[in-house]
Amino acid sequence: MADKDVSFPTAEYCVTFPRNFLWGAATAAYQIEGAWNEDGKGESIWDRFSHTEGTILNSDTGDVACDHYHRLDKDIALMKELGIRAYRFSISWPRIFPDGKGLVNLAGLDFYNRLVDKLLEAQIQPFATLYHWDLPQPLQDIGGWSNREVSSYFCDYAAVLSKHLGDRVRNWVTINEPWVIANIGHRDGLMAPGIKSQKTSLQVAHHLLVAHGKATQALRADNPSARVGIALDMRPTAPASDSPEDVEAARKTWTREARWYLDPLFKAYYPPDIWTEYGENAPIVKPRDMSLISQNLDFLGINYYTRTVCSKDGPVERIPGSEYTEMNWEIAPEAFCKMLIEISHEYNLPPIYITENGAAFNDVVTTEGTVEDTNRRDYMRDHLLQARIAMEEGVNLAGYFVWSLLDNFEWAFGYSKRFGIIHVDFKTQDRIIKKSGHWFSSVIKNYGFASEKAEHERITAVSANRADRR
Ligand code: FCB
Repeated sequence: MADKDVSFPTAEYCVTFPRNFLWGAATAAYQIEGAWNEDGKGESIWDRFSHTEGTILNSDTGDVACDHYHRLDKDIALMKELGIRAYRFSISWPRIFPDGKGLVNLAGLDFYNRLVDKLLEAQIQPFATLYHWDLPQPLQDIGGWSNREVSSYFCDYAAVLSKHLGDRVRNWVTINEPWVIANIGHRDGLMAPGIKSQKTSLQVAHHLLVAHGKATQALRADNPSARVGIALDMRPTAPASDSPEDVEAARKTWTREARWYLDPLFKAYYPPDIWTEYGENAPIVKPRDMSLISQNLDFLGINYYTRTVCSKDGPVERIPGSEYTEMNWEIAPEAFCKMLIEISHEYNLPPIYITENGAAFNDVVTTEGTVEDTNRRDYMRDHLLQARIAMEEGVNLAGYFVWSLLDNFEWAFGYSKRFGIIHVDFKTQDRIIKKSGHWFSSVIKNYGFASEKAEHERITAVSANRADRR
């Protein structure tokens, strides 16, 4: 077996990516910044939620997190050392508008101005996400995303960012994972704002899409060259057996979770069968909403971690023979490839970026001060291999952002789940680049990685097959 660490130039076989493939790492404001009440920042729903007893494992909060707000220079130096070409971060709405609307907090804007300038200085492209879950609490107090007005405030917020950062930030992600916001935050109540109502969650989902549409227009108004996309979490489904009931369960789950967003965005309608099933819980949709939602996008962001195996009785927790990460998520790289191919056939998609992919494992710092996370490296490698096969099958994949640059606050799991390619000691704030980080760095430098003969042959075969079909 070939040594997986052999770098590209000396390896006999390699998996190579196009020279213009974009390599990046991703984070989110609440998960890394800390400084939760500094420099005029307002309270967010995640501040409120994590300060509420019983919501987060070990009563952890994002008050300090990775203290990235005060360690900007060091963190950018680490990105530079890794050689990443793009950095996906999110902007904290309550840093910019402490009340969610009205007066702009210039100190908040200044932080992102500095971040963007320093990234550009380090030749790292900024990819800014406008909303990664930290709604200003004052907006929650007027109903949050269930109140349609909030989508207009979001549009104002987007316009301010476009005006102040749009001369330097070209790539924008409007909303991160609307399904998670709607369902985990408003149906299951396990994330902020902790609401449990299916009806509310469906209206929230619709308003998030409306907000996405309005913000897309706002971002392009001032800067016609802005590139705008959305990041969807996508868990492909597979039936637990061939029984018609299991097959139907898989189809329905996929429709409720993925098509509920893909169809409005790329076909301008909601999936009719599930719409009917929701009955009076279906959202109120205003005239012209669907054309607003389905404007052309410059890219689609996909966050991929795992698949769901569905039976008529619900998701199957453990598949014999499968491996799982610390999140209890099945490691399923082939399902990733299959999904990319299927959605590319079904929808008329713009270029795709994998805006998140990665894994939580229990890392150990060795006595030499290293983190030998071969499991995370293998996870990334296996998914990149499948991504490359998908590209060979015609999927228009333009880049890959690993989740995450740093170990960070993993929402309801607090600091118990580590996703970083950089280890963070939350007591000292020391950072260590993990083995997976060094490996990723070599992939970027070499435009690919050493592979085994079989993998190499597989890609060549896919490619030849496709050429034949043309
Ligand atoms: C995604 C979130 C991201 C992170 C990863 C593990 O759903 O977008 O913030 O928590 O999961």
